[in-house]
Amino acid sequence: MHVFITGGTGTIGSAVISELLGHGHTVLALARSDDSARALQEAGAETLRGQLADLDVLRTGVARTDGVISLAFGRDYSSADALAHSITEESTALTTLGEALVGSGRPIVAVSGTPWVPGRASTEADPVPTDGPVGARGRTVLALLELAARGVRSSTVRMPRTVHNQGRGGFAGLLTDQARRDGVSGYPGDGTQRWPAVHALDAAVLFRLALESAPAGTEWQAVADEGDAVRDIAAVIGRRLGLPVESVPEQTYGPFGSIFAMDQPASSAHTREALGWQPVHPSLLEDLENLEP
Ligand SMILES: NC(=O)c1ccc[n+]([C@@H]2O[C@H](COP(=O)([O-])OP(=O)(O)OC[C@H]3O[C@@H](n4cnc5c(N)ncnc54)[C@H](OP(=O)(O)O)[C@@H]3O)[C@@H](O)[C@H]2O)c1
Repeated sequence: MHVFITGGTGTIGSAVISELLGHGHTVLALARSDDSARALQEAGAETLRGQLADLDVLRTGVARTDGVISLAFGRDYSSADALAHSITEESTALTTLGEALVGSGRPIVAVSGTPWVPGRASTEADPVPTDGPVGARGRTVLALLELAARGVRSSTVRMPRTVHNQGRGGFAGLLTDQARRDGVSGYPGDGTQRWPAVHALDAAVLFRLALESAPAGTEWQAVADEGDAVRDIAAVIGRRLGLPVESVPEQTYGPFGSIFAMDQPASSAHTREALGWQPVHPSLLEDLENLEP
């Protein structure tokens, strides 16, 4: 399949490109800068210059390919306004990509997040949240999944809080960045809340499987570790960086504070069973051992 991908330079996207190329697919990747275009070409992708807000470029990407994987999302998490801007930009882009595929029967795989359910690990059958700080992302992917009724083989791959590679990425990566800034490896609350995780190379396999075979309108969970206590994550970060480990106020983490404080383990039993996905790469706690001071 010739696959149009957005976010191909990211932690997940770079792994997805290599996974696709390694399994006989070819890639057309959205590139918004010279640096990104160079990295994508070195990875073996053809590039299409433009950014998420260039809706005609997105339509061109769809017209030139057999399927789409959508991963791009703004990297500025510093304020509620910046996060809201990224969410709106992603929503408009996904709506455009989905509409361009109507009636084609072709696949689009969008990234989503694992939901949280009080007291137990969430499953693929639990709905994504449509309110709260990132609820608009949930509403956008639900609209995409509804395109299954209009001839689009849409599916979503729900990411756990942390998608990591070489100890970097995701919520654990944000904890690491904050620890480097503050000189303390912090965690909100008592640190017993659990976050799920997956290695980017394992997540990439699931994106390929969903692209190749997920039925229209289905949702999958890319979860390798059901839930590590955040205190345990902070402990490895603190030891690797040589910093003290302690509880800090939720507000330390800006717009993510309330999400960071929640217990949100997740399961992937149905995904493993139905798509034959089997994660094989290091767990988060193992991978964090790659951090350097
Ligand atoms: N990593 C995680 O733990 C995690 C967890 C849950 C969900 N997710 C979701 O998974 C997706 C990918 O995550 P990631 O960690 O791989 O992302 P990342 O490393 O932060 O990379 C973001 C990607 O999006 C591209 N991008 C951002 N804004 C863009 C714009 N306006 N136009 C075009 N491209 C744009 C970037 O391109 P440049 O290289 O040009 O900047 C880059 O390729 C995101 O939607 C993220 O929210 C990730």
